[in-house]
Amino acid sequence: MTIQWFPGHMAKARNQVQEKLKLVDIVLEIVDARIPESSRNPMMDEIIADKPRLLVLNKADLADKKQTAAWLDYYQKHDLPAIAIDAQHKSRLPQIEKTVRQILATKITRQQAKGLKIVKLRAMCIGIPNVGKSTVLNRLVQKNIAKTGNKPGVTKNQQWLKVSDSFEVLDTPGILWPKFEDPDTGMKLALLGSIKDSIFHADDVALFGLDLLRQRYQAQLQQTYHLQAADFERDNAGLLLTLTKKNGFKDDYDQFSEKMINDLRKGRFGGVTLDVIPTPTSETEVPTDD
Ligand code: G4P
Repeated sequence: MTIQWFPGHMAKARNQVQEKLKLVDIVLEIVDARIPESSRNPMMDEIIADKPRLLVLNKADLADKKQTAAWLDYYQKHDLPAIAIDAQHKSRLPQIEKTVRQILATKITRQQAKGLKIVKLRAMCIGIPNVGKSTVLNRLVQKNIAKTGNKPGVTKNQQWLKVSDSFEVLDTPGILWPKFEDPDTGMKLALLGSIKDSIFHADDVALFGLDLLRQRYQAQLQQTYHLQAADFERDNAGLLLTLTKKNGFKDDYDQFSEKMINDLRKGRFGGVTLDVIPTPTSETEVPTDD
């Protein structure tokens, strides 16, 4: 199954982002720490171009901590400033403004040299649906301004939010892109809630998720669903049926599929990261000093 979802309001929002970009000093790109690459919108690279950028790996509480550290290291090696946060807990949020100030230090020093006491910084917050953009912004401004909800596409309008006297953020709607080059990207986005549930079949997406969990987090899968080692001798479809029965859904594997997707979204398998760090090939290898 191939999933694609690019409704009209997203195409319109993309143009608005392009228009407003000249008003900001930096872009805050919010991604899901469990799929840091799959939740990045490649279309935005062209639009943002050389504008300074801070990648914010949100929902770090739901991700595999070791993998998050490895991803941060990966981005650092690729000269992309990145931090990991959990927007539901306030403690790491001041890190955003602090890092923005570090990235824009040259601009700040230049403006201060001109006699400006308070250097106002403006950021644009972008991200695909459901990465937690509204939650991050609500926490940053300490009010319930940005709309949150579990339905992709809920953040509708662009609005300026005042974080402090010297830092404002422009909220933008969650935007996907017209075609997922890698079909796995669409599946991962569906699995973690960035694509409207009515666009895909739950059993296809659950099977895809089951396969990923088996490959990467079999012990956590086994523990969460009280599976026996012998259950893993079955193929994915067989295992899905076993799980359907074990969980009291008789033969209704659609219903179990929805439960499994929800369990994954809510972090019931513990911290999991579904994107794998690309291994450098000779062409893409990052140069080192030695
Ligand atoms: P969006 O604007 O990018 O579309 O996302 P939004 O803030 O609406 O967040 C989507 C869901 O993700 C919400 O859950 C929100 O609570 C949750 N969320 C956001 N940031 C984090 C995080 O850092 N960690 C965890 N664990 N969850 C996060 P929901 O179930 O849709 O709604 P709610 O009932 O929790 O409000």
